[in-house]
Amino acid sequence: MPKNRQLHLNAFLRNVGQHEAAWRLPETRIASVTDIEHYRNLARIAEKGKLDAIFFADHPVLKDRAQDRPWDSLDPFTLIAALSGVTERIGLVATASTTYNDPYGLARRFATLDHVSKGRAAWNAVTTANAAAAANFSLGHHPDPDARYERAAEFLDIVNRLWDSWDDDAIVGDKGSGTFIDPDGIHRLDHHGKHFDVAGPLEVPRSPQGRPVVFQAGSSEPGKDLAARFAEAIFTAQPVLDEAQAFYSDVKARVRAYGRDPEKVHILPGLSTFIGGTEEEAGRLQETFEDLTLPTYGLAQLKRVTGIDYSSHDLDDVVRVPARGELASDQKSRHDLVHHLTATETLTLRQLLRRLSAGRGHRIATGTPEQIADTIVHWFENGAADGFNLIPPALPTSLEAFVDNVVPILQKRGLFRTDYEGTTLREHLGLDRPTVTRASRTFVAAAE
Ligand SMILES: Cc1cc2nc3c(=O)[nH]c(=O)nc-3n(C[C@H](O)[C@H](O)[C@H](O)COP(=O)(O)O)c2cc1C
Repeated sequence: MPKNRQLHLNAFLRNVGQHEAAWRLPETRIASVTDIEHYRNLARIAEKGKLDAIFFADHPVLKDRAQDRPWDSLDPFTLIAALSGVTERIGLVATASTTYNDPYGLARRFATLDHVSKGRAAWNAVTTANAAAAANFSLGHHPDPDARYERAAEFLDIVNRLWDSWDDDAIVGDKGSGTFIDPDGIHRLDHHGKHFDVAGPLEVPRSPQGRPVVFQAGSSEPGKDLAARFAEAIFTAQPVLDEAQAFYSDVKARVRAYGRDPEKVHILPGLSTFIGGTEEEAGRLQETFEDLTLPTYGLAQLKRVTGIDYSSHDLDDVVRVPARGELASDQKSRHDLVHHLTATETLTLRQLLRRLSAGRGHRIATGTPEQIADTIVHWFENGAADGFNLIPPALPTSLEAFVDNVVPILQKRGLFRTDYEGTTLREHLGLDRPTVTRASRTFVAAAE
């Protein structure tokens, strides 16, 4: 572990909050869901707190039970592009699917955003678990998880090579000789693979970060493998310490097995926080949210994750979600998580739905700012996390509460920056900027 190891904090911004009932709180402004002013405000709060990055999810299909809560209705890429203009330092992470995009278009967009944001762009690469998306993209059926991850690996490899298709020094700009670029500084791919044929090079010159940062968010076996191969930061839902530690050491070992440096791949479990002046006040705040949950919505989500319909079960009966069988749910890691929760605790169906309402299995911390800081540090110092993906239950209030009350404690303990040291997301994350020059390419070619 490096000396002075620092926490990395990312904010997951989901419309008016991750908690399924956040929109029903009296103070929530419904219009915020699609209002750019709301998102500008959130980005500024996160930047005031010196967080590493803000992040938006992507689900290219209207979810079922959309009548029960607002959804991630705005395209995340357009959002971060707009927010790059009102922020200066914070990283900007947008999710995009490897199943419902093509590598060239995606590489081009993120490289462009890296220029537009002066080196703050990141892509959260997901395979899209929701089968209903297929019908929006002229696809007869939604590929199964293994097929999606196979396509994702080829997709990510191509995107990296497209980003590398321009040497850092390819633009010569020699007005005297009339040479704008050195043609030897740009490189074709001529990729012919199982899923894609891509000639390249990209038409976007090398971007400030060399490559935009790659995040990944799948926790199943193929998900972890893909992350170990390509990701530089990993989102994961881990509600308990020992499971989080097992995930952490498993993924870091896989990273090492791919010949990569484990310290350059950050594992960021989700953390949803209810913060109060006292423990009781924080507990009452959490109950305020949970009292507004709708069992119909929670049951639909539980069915989506486990494949099991619990709507005929009594809400006050104890529930035990069985382990995944051969006919696995398409949300493997989330199913395992709910199974584990009901196997290790005695919960009624109502209690389970309330428990899942804040973060659908992400970890929840309820308490005073000191208690929240303590639990963050405990995971950070005990091999479970390199930082956290903050998942505020309500926006902007829960994000403000964290930035104003918890960040200063972490700063005082010397574990979190008091100001940005660099200007790019790679610098915030302590990641090297990949360099490709004609000299380095010649060197590699000579070595081969
Ligand atoms: C914090 C976090 C954010 C995620 N965001 C998205 C998203 O925006 N879109 C998506 O399709 N999947 C997203 N995922 C991934 C899915 O939840 C799910 O893990 C995955 O699609 C199923 O693959 P797995 O079984 O490998 O985990 C996210 C996961 C985490 C932990």
